[in-house]
Amino acid sequence: MKHALIIGGTGMLSDCCVQLAKQGYQLSIVARNEEKMDRIKKKIDPVSKMTKLLVDYTEEDKLQTAIRKAIQIHGPVSLVVSWIHSTAPKAAQVLIDEVALSEKPFRFFHILGSSSDPIAYKESLSLPSQGHYRTVLLGFVKEKGGSRWLTHSEISNGVAEAIEQDEPFCTVGEVEPWEERPGF
Ligand SMILES: NC(=O)c1ccc[n+]([C@@H]2O[C@H](COP(=O)([O-])OP(=O)(O)OC[C@H]3O[C@@H](n4cnc5c(N)ncnc54)[C@H](OP(=O)(O)O)[C@@H]3O)[C@@H](O)[C@H]2O)c1
Repeated sequence: MKHALIIGGTGMLSDCCVQLAKQGYQLSIVARNEEKMDRIKKKIDPVSKMTKLLVDYTEEDKLQTAIRKAIQIHGPVSLVVSWIHSTAPKAAQVLIDEVALSEKPFRFFHILGSSSDPIAYKESLSLPSQGHYRTVLLGFVKEKGGSRWLTHSEISNGVAEAIEQDEPFCTVGEVEPWEERPGF
């Protein structure tokens, strides 16, 4: 079965996780709160398609161990969806290094907030030749008379679409002109 690793999958990416399970992925989801994990698990059929990796991604050793165990059980990861806060600057590289150990091709979807610098993020990572890096930049929605941030559902659907389209770079919503972002 195709194995997907989702980091921060219990918040705005919850619906995306459910969609990936429907597409046949075995999911390993990293987050800390078990109740939020269980809320997603209830939506996944069969529940065995989802494994909870209850770990704080700022603790690199624990993150590495959890991913290694998940790969031992479910096989090589072919898809990584990564939403990681700036509190864990090394976590993305830990994921890449662990997933790369199996030497199988994988896609790494890096979800970034509107104000991030995608080029700097990409350049900060060391990717093996079998790792295909994809940036998904989150933006905002322009509306009559102003703008608003994306809803969770828009983010999840946009990320699922980005995975399907498989382009090296895509945005969900709009990021330009930056001066038109909400609250500016
Ligand atoms: N347009 C934009 O640019 C943009 C960008 C970013 C966010 N937003 C909005 O801002 C809101 C807040 O963002 P958010 O980051 O709180 O999003 P979120 O996706 O709702 O929650 C963060 C996810 O990461 C997990 N997580 C956080 N810290 C973790 C850690 N140290 N270790 C392991 N897992 C961790 C959380 O689970 P646990 O808490 O259980 O660990 C959860 O699954 C979002 O709801 C979104 O709508 C907009």
